[in-house]
Amino acid sequence: MAPRVFVLNGVNLGTLGRRRPEVYGTLTLNDIEKLLRDEFPEVEFEFRQTDHEGEMVGFIREAAESSGLAINPGAWTHYSYALHDALETLDVPKVEVHLSNVHAREEWRRRSVVSPAVDAVVVGMGALGYQAAVAYLLSRSDRR
Ligand code: DQA
Repeated sequence: MAPRVFVLNGVNLGTLGRRRPEVYGTLTLNDIEKLLRDEFPEVEFEFRQTDHEGEMVGFIREAAESSGLAINPGAWTHYSYALHDALETLDVPKVEVHLSNVHAREEWRRRSVVSPAVDAVVVGMGALGYQAAVAYLLSRSDRR
């Protein structure tokens, strides 16, 4: 069966391409989705973005029936215990992705409340971070 991978993007990530390109790059979320679909044609992607925290919790729950999940929670990373708890409950491989190097920016970005609930974290690699995350998820799904 084809691996099914969830790629979830949270608050404000729909503005990628226009939003602080010096920090987040010039690719839009559609460009990133295309990159992933081109690189991993064997994967059935659920590629989603929402600015609503409750909707994101629903997406995370849906991923229970998948091979794994990559999530960039945006600013929710730094304070959403609701996302932490939803991720903690999800029993599939999980990766947290950040386009920018959150450790080299404002102090408050250094703390992620979701990291304890995931298997791996990718920061500062731009769009390549999503590709790395999917490669990791596929390596994990081979082992299952
Ligand atoms: C981000 C980093 C967060 O601090 C920020 O709020 C974002 C994007 C990143 O991808 O680098 O929205 O998650």
